[in-house]
Amino acid sequence: MTQRVLLIISGGIAAYKSLELVRLLRKRGIAVRAVLTQSATQFVTPLSLGVLTEDHVYGDMFDLKEEREIGHIQLSRQADLVVVAPATANILAKMAGGIADDLATTLLLATDKPVLAVPAMNVRMWHHAATQRNLAQLRADGIRIMEPDDGAMACGEFGKGRLPEPEAIAAEIERLLALPKVADPLEQFVINHRDFATALEASGALAGKHVLITAGPTHEPIDPVRYIANRSSGKQGFAIAAAAARAGARVTLVAGPVNQPTPAGVDRVDVQTAREMMAAVEAALPADVAIMVAAVADWRTADAADQKLKKDGSGRPAPLTLVENPDILATLGHGAQRPALLIGFAAETQKIAEHAQAKLARKGADWIVANDVSGNAMGGDDNAIQIVTAQGIESWPSLPKGEVAQKLIEKVAHALSPVAD
Ligand code: C5P
Repeated sequence: MTQRVLLIISGGIAAYKSLELVRLLRKRGIAVRAVLTQSATQFVTPLSLGVLTEDHVYGDMFDLKEEREIGHIQLSRQADLVVVAPATANILAKMAGGIADDLATTLLLATDKPVLAVPAMNVRMWHHAATQRNLAQLRADGIRIMEPDDGAMACGEFGKGRLPEPEAIAAEIERLLALPKVADPLEQFVINHRDFATALEASGALAGKHVLITAGPTHEPIDPVRYIANRSSGKQGFAIAAAAARAGARVTLVAGPVNQPTPAGVDRVDVQTAREMMAAVEAALPADVAIMVAAVADWRTADAADQKLKKDGSGRPAPLTLVENPDILATLGHGAQRPALLIGFAAETQKIAEHAQAKLARKGADWIVANDVSGNAMGGDDNAIQIVTAQGIESWPSLPKGEVAQKLIEKVAHALSPVAD
Protein backbone atom coordinates (compact mmCIF):
# COMPACT_ATOMS: atom_id res chain seq x y z
CA MET A 1 0.00 0.00 0.00
CA THR A 2 1.28 3.46 -0.81
CA GLN A 3 2.56 5.25 2.24
CA ARG A 4 1.46 8.81 2.79
CA VAL A 5 3.20 11.78 4.30
CA LEU A 6 1.52 15.02 5.27
CA LEU A 7 4.25 17.61 4.77
CA ILE A 8 3.84 20.88 6.64
CA ILE A 9 6.13 23.59 5.32
CA SER A 10 6.69 26.59 7.55
CA GLY A 11 8.24 29.84 6.42
CA GLY A 12 12.00 30.01 6.39
CA ILE A 13 14.63 30.41 3.74
CA ALA A 14 15.20 26.62 3.83
CA ALA A 15 11.61 26.10 2.60
CA TYR A 16 12.88 25.89 -0.96
CA LYS A 17 14.57 22.59 -0.03
CA SER A 18 11.13 21.10 0.64
CA LEU A 19 10.64 20.88 -3.14
CA GLU A 20 13.66 18.59 -3.41
CA LEU A 21 12.37 16.62 -0.41
CA VAL A 22 9.02 16.08 -2.14
CA ARG A 23 10.83 14.93 -5.29
CA LEU A 24 12.93 12.43 -3.31
CA LEU A 25 9.89 11.06 -1.47
CA ARG A 26 7.93 10.65 -4.68
CA LYS A 27 10.92 8.85 -6.19
CA ARG A 28 10.69 6.40 -3.28
CA GLY A 29 7.01 5.80 -4.04
CA ILE A 30 5.73 7.82 -1.07
CA ALA A 31 2.65 10.00 -1.60
CA VAL A 32 2.98 13.56 -0.29
CA ARG A 33 0.24 16.02 0.57
CA ALA A 34 1.57 19.50 1.31
CA VAL A 35 0.35 22.19 3.67
CA LEU A 36 1.92 25.65 3.57
CA THR A 37 1.84 28.19 6.36
CA GLN A 38 1.12 31.77 5.37
CA SER A 39 4.79 32.77 5.57
CA ALA A 40 5.96 29.66 3.67
CA THR A 41 4.12 30.99 0.61
CA GLN A 42 6.75 33.76 0.51
CA PHE A 43 9.41 31.11 -0.19
CA VAL A 44 7.69 28.38 -2.25
CA THR A 45 4.58 28.55 -4.37
CA PRO A 46 1.56 26.28 -4.07
CA LEU A 47 1.84 25.82 -7.84
CA SER A 48 5.31 24.20 -7.79
CA LEU A 49 4.33 22.05 -4.82
CA GLY A 50 1.09 21.03 -6.51
CA VAL A 51 2.99 19.94 -9.62
CA LEU A 52 5.50 17.91 -7.61
CA THR A 53 2.97 16.30 -5.24
CA GLU A 54 0.33 15.86 -7.97
CA ASP A 55 -2.16 16.79 -5.28
CA HIS A 56 -4.04 19.76 -3.97
CA VAL A 57 -1.90 22.03 -1.78
CA TYR A 58 -3.55 23.25 1.40
CA GLY A 59 -3.00 26.55 3.13
CA ASP A 60 -6.01 28.42 4.40
CA MET A 61 -8.08 26.93 7.18
CA PHE A 62 -10.99 29.21 6.40
CA ASP A 63 -11.33 28.11 2.81
CA LEU A 64 -14.87 26.80 3.04
CA LYS A 65 -14.69 24.83 -0.18
CA GLU A 66 -11.63 22.96 1.10
CA GLU A 67 -13.15 22.47 4.52
CA ARG A 68 -16.30 21.01 2.94
CA GLU A 69 -14.32 18.65 0.71
CA ILE A 70 -11.89 17.46 3.34
CA GLY A 71 -12.18 18.71 6.89
CA HIS A 72 -9.05 19.58 8.80
CA ILE A 73 -9.47 16.68 11.22
CA GLN A 74 -9.64 14.23 8.34
CA LEU A 75 -6.67 15.90 6.63
CA SER A 76 -4.60 15.49 9.78
CA ARG A 77 -5.25 11.77 9.92
CA GLN A 78 -5.09 10.69 6.28
CA ALA A 79 -1.34 10.14 6.44
CA ASP A 80 1.02 7.61 7.94
CA LEU A 81 3.40 10.30 9.14
CA VAL A 82 3.22 14.06 9.60
CA VAL A 83 6.45 15.88 8.78
CA VAL A 84 7.16 19.54 9.56
CA ALA A 85 10.09 20.58 7.33
CA PRO A 86 11.43 23.13 7.66
CA ALA A 87 10.16 23.70 11.18
CA THR A 88 10.80 27.32 12.20
CA ALA A 89 11.37 28.38 15.81
CA ASN A 90 7.91 29.90 15.62
CA ILE A 91 6.02 26.76 14.62
CA LEU A 92 7.99 24.69 17.16
CA ALA A 93 6.94 27.16 19.86
CA LYS A 94 3.31 26.91 18.78
CA MET A 95 3.49 23.12 18.73
CA ALA A 96 5.06 23.02 22.19
CA GLY A 97 2.35 25.35 23.50
CA GLY A 98 -0.55 23.65 21.75
CA ILE A 99 -1.45 26.78 19.79
CA ALA A 100 -3.67 26.21 16.77
CA ASP A 101 -4.14 29.49 14.93
CA ASP A 102 -3.85 28.39 11.30
CA LEU A 103 -4.39 25.22 9.28
CA ALA A 104 -0.84 23.83 9.83
CA THR A 105 -0.89 24.16 13.62
CA THR A 106 -4.49 22.97 13.83
CA LEU A 107 -3.56 19.81 11.94
CA LEU A 108 -0.60 19.26 14.27
CA LEU A 109 -2.89 19.47 17.28
CA ALA A 110 -5.59 17.29 15.74
CA THR A 111 -3.45 14.51 14.33
CA ASP A 112 -3.24 11.04 15.83
CA LYS A 113 -0.23 10.16 13.69
CA PRO A 114 3.48 10.27 14.58
CA VAL A 115 5.09 13.62 13.89
CA LEU A 116 8.63 14.34 12.73
CA ALA A 117 9.88 17.94 13.01
CA VAL A 118 12.94 19.04 11.06
CA PRO A 119 14.05 22.39 12.50
CA ALA A 120 15.90 25.05 10.51
CA MET A 121 16.73 28.48 11.86
CA ASN A 122 19.46 30.96 12.68
CA VAL A 123 22.11 29.57 15.05
CA ARG A 124 21.21 31.99 17.85
CA MET A 125 17.53 31.18 17.57
CA TRP A 126 18.44 27.47 17.77
CA HIS A 127 20.52 27.92 20.91
CA HIS A 128 18.02 30.30 22.55
CA ALA A 129 16.75 28.96 25.86
CA ALA A 130 13.16 29.29 24.68
CA THR A 131 13.75 27.13 21.58
CA GLN A 132 15.67 24.51 23.55
CA ARG A 133 12.88 24.46 26.16
CA ASN A 134 10.28 23.98 23.41
CA LEU A 135 12.32 21.18 21.83
CA ALA A 136 12.63 19.39 25.18
CA GLN A 137 8.85 19.67 25.61
CA LEU A 138 8.20 18.36 22.11
CA ARG A 139 10.55 15.40 22.64
CA ALA A 140 8.77 14.62 25.91
CA ASP A 141 5.47 14.74 23.99
CA GLY A 142 6.83 12.09 21.61
CA ILE A 143 7.54 14.34 18.65
CA ARG A 144 10.64 13.21 16.76
CA ILE A 145 13.13 15.99 16.18
CA MET A 146 15.90 15.77 13.59
CA GLU A 147 19.10 17.57 14.58
CA PRO A 148 19.93 20.49 12.31
CA ASP A 149 23.26 20.57 10.47
CA ASP A 150 26.20 22.81 11.25
CA GLY A 151 27.53 25.25 8.71
CA ALA A 152 27.21 28.56 6.90
CA MET A 153 23.74 30.09 7.13
CA ALA A 154 21.76 32.14 4.66
CA CYS A 155 21.95 35.06 7.11
CA GLY A 156 25.76 35.08 6.92
CA GLU A 157 26.32 33.54 10.36
CA PHE A 158 27.85 30.14 10.98
CA GLY A 159 26.74 27.33 13.27
CA LYS A 160 24.00 24.86 14.05
CA GLY A 161 20.59 25.41 12.53
CA ARG A 162 20.83 24.47 8.87
CA LEU A 163 18.11 22.20 7.52
CA PRO A 164 19.59 18.70 7.07
CA GLU A 165 20.07 17.68 3.45
CA PRO A 166 16.79 16.56 1.79
CA GLU A 167 18.39 13.12 1.20
CA ALA A 168 18.92 12.70 4.98
CA ILE A 169 15.34 13.83 5.73
CA ALA A 170 13.94 11.45 3.11
CA ALA A 171 15.97 8.58 4.62
CA GLU A 172 14.64 9.36 8.10
CA ILE A 173 11.05 9.51 6.79
CA GLU A 174 11.54 6.18 5.02
CA ARG A 175 12.94 4.67 8.23
CA LEU A 176 9.98 5.89 10.31
CA LEU A 177 7.47 4.67 7.73
CA ALA A 178 9.11 1.22 7.70
CA LEU A 179 8.61 0.75 11.45
CA PRO A 180 5.58 -1.28 12.46
CA LYS A 181 2.39 0.55 13.36
CA VAL A 182 1.21 0.47 16.96
CA ALA A 183 -2.42 -0.17 16.15
CA ASP A 184 -4.89 0.46 13.39
CA PRO A 185 -4.62 4.22 13.53
CA LEU A 186 -7.93 4.94 11.85
CA GLU A 187 -9.87 3.05 14.47
CA GLN A 188 -8.01 4.52 17.37
CA PHE A 189 -9.34 7.91 18.34
CA VAL A 190 -6.22 9.24 19.95
CA ILE A 191 -2.83 7.60 19.99
CA ASN A 192 -0.57 8.92 22.65
CA HIS A 193 2.46 10.12 20.74
CA ARG A 194 4.82 9.15 23.47
CA ASP A 195 3.66 5.53 23.34
CA PHE A 196 4.02 5.61 19.62
CA ALA A 197 7.56 6.93 19.80
CA THR A 198 8.50 4.30 22.36
CA ALA A 199 7.01 1.58 20.21
CA LEU A 200 8.98 2.83 17.22
CA GLU A 201 12.18 2.61 19.21
CA ALA A 202 11.29 -0.83 20.48
CA SER A 203 11.24 -2.20 16.97
CA GLY A 204 14.96 -1.58 16.52
CA ALA A 205 17.61 -4.12 17.43
CA LEU A 206 19.44 -1.53 19.53
CA ALA A 207 16.35 0.06 21.06
CA GLY A 208 16.99 1.44 24.52
CA LYS A 209 20.79 1.29 24.07
CA HIS A 210 23.10 4.27 24.16
CA VAL A 211 25.83 4.03 21.53
CA LEU A 212 28.74 6.46 21.80
CA ILE A 213 30.85 6.99 18.69
CA THR A 214 33.92 9.13 17.94
CA ALA A 215 34.75 10.04 14.36
CA GLY A 216 37.01 12.21 12.24
CA PRO A 217 40.42 13.63 13.07
CA THR A 218 41.39 15.99 15.87
CA HIS A 219 43.17 19.27 15.21
CA GLU A 220 45.91 20.20 17.67
CA PRO A 221 46.82 23.87 17.26
CA ILE A 222 50.46 24.89 16.75
CA ASP A 223 49.55 28.56 16.39
CA PRO A 224 46.34 30.32 15.30
CA VAL A 225 46.70 29.14 11.70
CA ARG A 226 48.51 25.78 11.85
CA TYR A 227 47.61 22.47 13.41
CA ILE A 228 48.68 18.82 13.73
CA ALA A 229 46.16 16.29 12.44
CA ASN A 230 45.72 12.78 11.10
CA ARG A 231 44.09 12.18 7.74
CA SER A 232 40.47 11.23 8.32
CA SER A 233 37.29 12.10 6.44
CA GLY A 234 34.96 10.84 9.20
CA LYS A 235 32.98 8.83 6.60
CA GLN A 236 33.25 5.46 8.32
CA GLY A 237 32.39 6.79 11.80
CA PHE A 238 29.42 8.79 10.48
CA ALA A 239 28.13 5.73 8.59
CA ILE A 240 28.33 3.68 11.81
CA ALA A 241 26.44 6.39 13.71
CA ALA A 242 23.73 6.37 11.01
CA ALA A 243 23.44 2.57 11.15
CA ALA A 244 23.20 2.58 14.97
CA ALA A 245 20.43 5.20 14.84
CA ARG A 246 18.55 3.15 12.23
CA ALA A 247 18.73 0.21 14.63
CA GLY A 248 16.87 2.32 17.21
CA ALA A 249 19.80 3.27 19.46
CA ARG A 250 20.26 6.63 21.11
CA VAL A 251 23.45 7.72 19.41
CA THR A 252 25.98 10.30 20.59
CA LEU A 253 28.50 11.13 17.88
CA VAL A 254 31.54 13.07 19.04
CA ALA A 255 33.01 14.45 15.82
CA GLY A 256 36.30 16.12 15.09
CA PRO A 257 36.49 18.72 12.32
CA VAL A 258 34.96 17.02 9.27
CA ASN A 259 32.74 17.97 6.40
CA GLN A 260 29.95 15.42 6.88
CA PRO A 261 26.21 15.96 7.33
CA THR A 262 24.76 14.77 10.64
CA PRO A 263 23.02 11.43 10.12
CA ALA A 264 19.32 11.29 10.95
CA GLY A 265 18.48 10.69 14.59
CA VAL A 266 22.02 11.25 15.86
CA ASP A 267 23.08 13.68 18.63
CA ARG A 268 26.28 15.27 17.39
CA VAL A 269 28.89 17.02 19.53
CA ASP A 270 31.58 18.85 17.57
CA VAL A 271 35.09 19.12 18.98
CA GLN A 272 38.49 20.22 17.70
CA THR A 273 41.18 18.72 19.92
CA ALA A 274 41.82 15.33 21.55
CA ARG A 275 41.33 16.81 24.98
CA GLU A 276 37.95 18.25 23.93
CA MET A 277 37.04 14.86 22.46
CA MET A 278 38.01 13.14 25.73
CA ALA A 279 35.85 15.58 27.73
CA ALA A 280 32.87 15.16 25.36
CA VAL A 281 33.14 11.36 25.56
CA GLU A 282 33.26 11.44 29.36
CA ALA A 283 30.30 13.82 29.47
CA ALA A 284 28.29 11.42 27.29
CA LEU A 285 28.82 8.40 29.59
CA PRO A 286 27.32 6.04 30.56
CA ALA A 287 27.00 4.16 27.29
CA ASP A 288 26.18 0.54 26.49
CA VAL A 289 28.46 0.48 23.49
CA ALA A 290 31.37 2.76 22.54
CA ILE A 291 32.89 2.65 19.07
CA MET A 292 36.01 4.78 18.84
CA VAL A 293 36.54 5.42 15.15
CA ALA A 294 38.26 8.81 15.42
CA ALA A 295 41.82 9.19 14.18
CA VAL A 296 42.95 11.05 17.26
CA ALA A 297 46.27 12.93 17.02
CA ASP A 298 48.71 11.17 19.34
CA TRP A 299 50.53 14.38 20.20
CA ARG A 300 49.79 18.05 20.70
CA THR A 301 52.13 20.97 21.14
CA ALA A 302 53.12 21.65 24.74
CA ASP A 303 52.11 25.30 24.26
CA ALA A 304 50.15 26.53 21.28
CA ALA A 305 51.46 29.97 20.29
CA ASP A 306 49.04 32.90 20.61
CA GLN A 307 50.44 34.56 17.49
CA LYS A 308 51.39 33.07 14.13
CA LEU A 309 54.96 31.68 14.30
CA LYS A 310 57.33 33.53 11.95
CA LYS A 311 60.59 32.46 10.34
CA ASP A 312 63.31 34.29 12.25
CA GLY A 313 65.84 34.40 9.39
CA SER A 314 68.28 32.03 11.08
CA GLY A 315 67.27 29.11 8.85
CA ARG A 316 66.40 27.08 11.96
CA PRO A 317 62.80 25.84 12.26
CA ALA A 318 60.66 27.08 15.12
CA PRO A 319 61.04 24.76 18.13
CA LEU A 320 58.04 22.48 18.56
CA THR A 321 57.72 20.56 21.81
CA LEU A 322 55.14 17.80 21.68
CA VAL A 323 53.34 16.12 24.54
CA GLU A 324 51.17 13.01 24.37
CA ASN A 325 47.40 13.33 24.14
CA PRO A 326 45.10 11.28 26.37
CA ASP A 327 44.20 7.91 24.83
CA ILE A 328 40.42 8.08 24.85
CA LEU A 329 39.87 4.40 24.03
CA ALA A 330 42.33 3.20 26.69
CA THR A 331 40.88 5.60 29.27
CA LEU A 332 37.41 4.14 28.64
CA GLY A 333 38.76 0.58 28.56
CA HIS A 334 40.37 0.86 31.95
CA GLY A 335 37.86 3.29 33.51
CA ALA A 336 35.09 2.80 36.05
CA GLN A 337 32.34 3.53 33.51
CA ARG A 338 33.58 1.11 30.86
CA PRO A 339 30.79 0.41 28.34
CA ALA A 340 29.70 -3.24 28.17
CA LEU A 341 30.99 -3.43 24.61
CA LEU A 342 34.05 -1.36 23.71
CA ILE A 343 35.28 -1.25 20.14
CA GLY A 344 38.42 0.44 18.84
CA PHE A 345 39.67 0.99 15.33
CA ALA A 346 43.22 0.55 14.19
CA ALA A 347 44.49 2.14 11.03
CA GLU A 348 47.56 0.18 10.04
CA THR A 349 49.78 0.01 7.02
CA GLN A 350 51.54 -3.27 7.85
CA LYS A 351 51.24 -6.39 10.09
CA ILE A 352 47.61 -5.40 10.56
CA ALA A 353 46.26 -8.32 12.59
CA GLU A 354 49.38 -8.60 14.74
CA HIS A 355 49.27 -4.93 15.75
CA ALA A 356 45.53 -5.14 16.38
CA GLN A 357 45.99 -8.13 18.73
CA ALA A 358 48.45 -6.15 20.83
CA LYS A 359 46.14 -3.15 20.87
CA LEU A 360 43.22 -5.22 22.17
CA ALA A 361 44.94 -5.84 25.49
CA ARG A 362 46.69 -2.49 25.76
CA LYS A 363 43.48 -0.50 25.28
CA GLY A 364 41.19 -2.80 27.26
CA ALA A 365 38.86 -3.11 24.25
CA ASP A 366 36.61 -6.04 23.30
CA TRP A 367 37.12 -5.73 19.56
CA ILE A 368 39.65 -3.94 17.44
CA VAL A 369 38.53 -3.23 13.90
CA ALA A 370 41.70 -3.14 11.87
CA ASN A 371 41.81 -1.55 8.47
CA ASP A 372 44.61 -1.37 6.00
CA VAL A 373 45.12 2.29 5.17
CA SER A 374 48.05 1.70 2.86
CA GLY A 375 45.47 1.89 0.00
CA ASN A 376 42.82 4.60 -0.17
CA ALA A 377 40.60 3.63 2.79
CA MET A 378 41.15 7.08 4.27
CA GLY A 379 38.74 9.40 2.51
CA GLY A 380 37.70 6.63 0.08
CA ASP A 381 34.27 5.05 -0.11
CA ASP A 382 35.28 1.43 0.51
CA ASN A 383 36.92 -0.29 3.44
CA ALA A 384 38.31 -3.81 3.99
CA ILE A 385 38.37 -4.65 7.68
CA GLN A 386 39.44 -7.40 10.02
CA ILE A 387 37.74 -7.70 13.40
CA VAL A 388 40.12 -8.89 16.07
CA THR A 389 38.58 -10.25 19.29
CA ALA A 390 39.74 -12.56 22.06
CA GLN A 391 38.10 -15.38 20.06
CA GLY A 392 40.00 -14.79 16.84
CA ILE A 393 40.04 -12.78 13.65
CA GLU A 394 37.19 -12.23 11.22
CA SER A 395 38.12 -10.83 7.80
CA TRP A 396 35.56 -9.04 5.65
CA PRO A 397 35.94 -8.34 1.95
CA SER A 398 36.27 -4.75 0.77
CA LEU A 399 32.79 -3.17 1.05
CA PRO A 400 31.30 0.31 0.78
CA LYS A 401 31.67 2.08 4.14
CA GLY A 402 27.86 2.17 4.56
CA GLU A 403 27.72 -1.63 4.29
CA VAL A 404 30.64 -2.08 6.67
CA ALA A 405 28.72 0.12 9.13
CA GLN A 406 25.46 -1.82 8.72
CA LYS A 407 27.14 -5.20 9.19
CA LEU A 408 29.16 -3.97 12.15
CA ILE A 409 26.02 -2.69 13.89
CA GLU A 410 24.30 -6.04 13.24
CA LYS A 411 27.27 -7.74 14.90
CA VAL A 412 27.04 -5.31 17.83
CA ALA A 413 23.30 -6.02 18.26
CA HIS A 414 24.00 -9.75 18.16
CA ALA A 415 26.78 -9.44 20.74
CA LEU A 416 24.51 -7.52 23.11
CA SER A 417 21.67 -10.02 22.95
CA PRO A 418 23.05 -13.31 21.66
CA VAL A 419 20.44 -15.58 20.15
CA ALA A 420 20.88 -19.31 19.96
CA ASP A 421 22.18 -20.19 16.47
O1 C5P B 1 46.93 3.52 19.14
P1 C5P B 1 46.10 3.84 17.94
O2 C5P B 1 45.99 5.32 17.66
O3 C5P B 1 46.46 3.08 16.70
O4 C5P B 1 44.65 3.31 18.35
C1 C5P B 1 43.56 3.48 17.53
C2 C5P B 1 42.30 3.38 18.32
O5 C5P B 1 42.41 4.12 19.54
C3 C5P B 1 41.12 4.01 17.61
O6 C5P B 1 39.95 3.36 18.05
C4 C5P B 1 41.16 5.45 18.10
O7 C5P B 1 39.91 6.08 18.01
C5 C5P B 1 41.58 5.27 19.54
N1 C5P B 1 42.39 6.37 20.07
C6 C5P B 1 41.85 7.17 21.05
N2 C5P B 1 42.60 8.18 21.63
C7 C5P B 1 43.86 8.39 21.19
C8 C5P B 1 44.41 7.58 20.19
C9 C5P B 1 43.65 6.59 19.64
O8 C5P B 1 40.69 6.96 21.42
N3 C5P B 1 44.56 9.39 21.74
